[in-house]
Amino acid sequence: MKPRVLVTRHVYPAAIAILQEDCTVDYHATHDVLAPDRLVRRLQHAQGVVCQLTDALTADVIAEAPQLKVIANIAVGYDNVDVPAATARGIVVTHTPGVLTEATADLTFALLLATARRLPEAERFLRGGRWQRWDVDLLCGADVHGRTLGIVGLGRIGQAVARRARGFGMPLLYSAPRPAPEAIERELQARHVPLDTLLQHSDFVTLHVPLRDDTRHLISVEQLCRMRRSAILVNTSRGPIVDEAALVAALEEGLLAGAGLDVFEHEPQVHPGLLALPNVVLLPHVGSATVPVRTRMCALAAGDCAAVLRGERPAHPVNPEVLG
Ligand code: DGY
Repeated sequence: MKPRVLVTRHVYPAAIAILQEDCTVDYHATHDVLAPDRLVRRLQHAQGVVCQLTDALTADVIAEAPQLKVIANIAVGYDNVDVPAATARGIVVTHTPGVLTEATADLTFALLLATARRLPEAERFLRGGRWQRWDVDLLCGADVHGRTLGIVGLGRIGQAVARRARGFGMPLLYSAPRPAPEAIERELQARHVPLDTLLQHSDFVTLHVPLRDDTRHLISVEQLCRMRRSAILVNTSRGPIVDEAALVAALEEGLLAGAGLDVFEHEPQVHPGLLALPNVVLLPHVGSATVPVRTRMCALAAGDCAAVLRGERPAHPVNPEVLG
């Protein structure tokens, strides 16, 4: 009998075609998120699940899925999956790194530019019929070219952002638990510094770390106070890396000049304080949202799910220790 796979939400069709080659697919083909009780019910007879960052694969949910062998998450981040709980049960967890690196770096840079140069505000101004004439001080923003960029986390996406910043003549600082290999530092001309130093000396700070216990609220009151009053914070990683209430207070008090945010602490809710501020640019978690990239992410997750169920090694396991 073919193994059964639950696909929790609408995906690009390539994923379904890949799964159907070897599996019976239980496809919840809508954009709605399955509530935990419905998710548990649909997982009862599933050996595999292809899920998204909106699905909470908690220890409780995993405990209620007796036949589960693989959780394939359509995202590079996997903070929605309780990996230790899956590992304890011998369940393979996979994710989709690599394919979204450049698109996410593009979006990061777009957000940085849009915030510095006040692009959404300028467009609202024009569409609102308020444009009377060219003025010397109309909608002036901050320089980007030549300003210092601080990159928190120099993994795949952090490095891709750094390459773009080189084209803008930006001196680069980065913080990370360990310095990057010398060849990378040389290529990017990036200097490894402690987070506090990075915050003090950067005109732009961009976050590229995964969400874990040790990175939750990595940027809170103390860190925001260290930033330059003229600085802009950009976040395209995960919302809870930033203490959102502290960010709102810092922006309201003028402790930093602005923020460009693609991710939020309680998605899809956005802190009302952020919505009220003119100097922030807010996007609905679209870092990797290009059709080719999202198609590849869906196909990658489906391919890895099917591979595990065929008894093969998946391309991107998060917990390779369960593969033996
Ligand atoms: C991810 O992959 O983790 C992003 O947040 C969605 O592309």
